[in-house]
Amino acid sequence: MNTESYFSERRTVRSYDPSRKLTFNEIEHMLEAAAHAPNTGNMQLYSVVVTTDDQTKKALAPAHFNQPSVMSSQAVLTFCVDFNRFEKWCRQRNAAPGYNNFQSFMWGVIDTVIYAQQFVTIAELNGLGTCYLGTVTYNAPEIAKVLDLPARVVPVATVTVGYPTGDSPKSDRLPVSAIVHADKYHDYTEDDINRIYSAKEALPESAGFIAENGKETLAQVFTDARYKKEDNEYFSRVFADLIREQGF
Ligand SMILES: Cc1cc2nc3c(=O)[nH]c(=O)nc-3n(C[C@H](O)[C@H](O)[C@H](O)COP(=O)(O)O)c2cc1C
Repeated sequence: MNTESYFSERRTVRSYDPSRKLTFNEIEHMLEAAAHAPNTGNMQLYSVVVTTDDQTKKALAPAHFNQPSVMSSQAVLTFCVDFNRFEKWCRQRNAAPGYNNFQSFMWGVIDTVIYAQQFVTIAELNGLGTCYLGTVTYNAPEIAKVLDLPARVVPVATVTVGYPTGDSPKSDRLPVSAIVHADKYHDYTEDDINRIYSAKEALPESAGFIAENGKETLAQVFTDARYKKEDNEYFSRVFADLIREQGF
């Protein structure tokens, strides 16, 4: 497989074969390679908690709204912004850290997500399946508790990993012309929006989602069912409180 076809053919895998074993060392080996990803000032402002035991997975599952990939996975990886380690080093070396602010938190988020995605690519290239769980930022306080995360550590990306089983459909993407702007940003006309979203709207599964949710348009499935304003606002407050509690 060439590089381009790996990227265009990859897909999220939500169902894993529990009879296959993936050892902590194998995961650690991939995480070591992933750590060569670019990161802010080479400070590596992240940690990852690799959960392989069923008891801790069971404790994590409700925080991920019991998404089945948690229990069927070989491991649940919780990628965290981590200033705890770096600041301890600073203090032990007579250096005063000035990282209890939003700008520093953003460095951490960017580094952590790049690291997580580098791991995902390496895992997929090794024949494994992965699935991000966005629920990590919904129920971050519960996840922090289950994983014993100390002050200055915030979970921002969860990835389940395992040996794929069953079919994982390939999902659509917008045409590249929809997302690429030459030289400067060119704002979208109404016609552009119609053109860009027409293929997605014409997919048979889109009609299914609209019918299932009793909606008139696919966009309403996003705004009124999947990612509702009241949920987004509630989980924003929960996450903002956690970030403040963790000293950012
Ligand atoms: C930040 C993030 C959060 C996600 N959260 C979930 C999730 O909670 N559950 C899930 O099944 N898939 C989740 N996904 C996977 C996306 O649904 C998936 O990447 C997207 O639909 C495109 O499909 P593909 O990866 O197969 O191309 C998430 C992906 C990302 C990047």
